[in-house]
Amino acid sequence: MEERIISSHLSSVDEETVEFSLRPRYLSEYIGQSRAKENLKVYIEAAKMRRETLDHVLLYGPPGLGKTTLSHIIANELGVQLRTTSGPAIERPGDLAAILTNLQQGDLLFIDEIHRLNRSVEEVLYPAMEDFALDIVIGKGPSARSVRLDLPPFTLVGATTRAGSLSSPLRDRFGVVTRLEYYTEEELTFIVSRSADLLQVTTREEGAHEIARRARGTPRVANRLLKRVRDFVQVQGDGVITPETARDALDRIQVDKLGLDQVDHKLLRSIMEHFRGGPVGLETIAAAIGEESHTVEDVYEPYLLQIGFLQRTPRGRMVTSRCYQHFGVEMPP
Ligand SMILES: Nc1ncnc2c1ncn2[C@@H]1O[C@H](COP(=O)(O)OP(=O)(O)OP(=O)(O)O)[C@@H](O)[C@H]1O
Ligand SMILES: [Mg+2]
Repeated sequence: MEERIISSHLSSVDEETVEFSLRPRYLSEYIGQSRAKENLKVYIEAAKMRRETLDHVLLYGPPGLGKTTLSHIIANELGVQLRTTSGPAIERPGDLAAILTNLQQGDLLFIDEIHRLNRSVEEVLYPAMEDFALDIVIGKGPSARSVRLDLPPFTLVGATTRAGSLSSPLRDRFGVVTRLEYYTEEELTFIVSRSADLLQVTTREEGAHEIARRARGTPRVANRLLKRVRDFVQVQGDGVITPETARDALDRIQVDKLGLDQVDHKLLRSIMEHFRGGPVGLETIAAAIGEESHTVEDVYEPYLLQIGFLQRTPRGRMVTSRCYQHFGVEMPP
């Protein structure tokens, strides 16, 4: 048991290291998201010209599209120090106050999963974002008084998969709000080719395309599939990723032609087979397939909605005729 825990821990560290090494470091290496990129380029340039800090930036969009990567890039492009934390890591207002008072002039503070900050912590953030100030209460009871401390100017970059869960006072304090979109096959082919170079695995363009096609619009998925395909071609093939070897490996890890994996299949089949295509509530469907409802909502659903396999209705989730066709299942009357 002990050994298994240790080895799975090691392998996840290894994945992170690889993911990190595949991360583009400058805007010029960041593929796709052209609108977001072009605009950010201007804002960064303008802030540098004026020797001001960049306005606070909110990045939102489904997991694995490059929010964390972009925050690192913004810091690199500005030439400032990056401090990283996350919503759930900041439990009390004092934790955030400690982070803020340790910032240096111009620093970029990255708060991942910013929708998970609790209210009392959020309230510390408002004056910090607006006036670069920290309001602290000294003393207790009738003699308590509030003191305002100045903070060095800094840029907050917040990332979230759920812009809708952000309170509006917080959302309104971001000067730049950027939504990341799913990537096209072409862009993903580029990303796979770039990663293949970095991983030093010979890849034919069509092989990269085959991986890109099944990467559900997501660079993180593309890189993960690339690594698994690389395992197969290195152990069982001649080490070269071609359309055939890619297809073979992807079939073996059960990622279908649209990039849907076993969990997607379970989810969609369950709605078709047990709930007559829906509508069915999120909690019910999550319980039926043994996944957490927020995992279903944040990780699986966005892509299924995007490709038009699933619909959200006020009464619950429904699968579409397109989904029935993909599975070759007859639609109930
Ligand atoms: N535009 C891009 N060009 C090249 N590679 C990219 C791009 N965006 C993301 N990647 C790759 O995808 C991986 C995942 O990106 P990242 O961790 O930034 O996603 P994220 O949006 O922060 O996801 P999450 O919501 O799960 O935190 C990165 O390791 C990086 O290698
Ligand atoms: Mg991230």
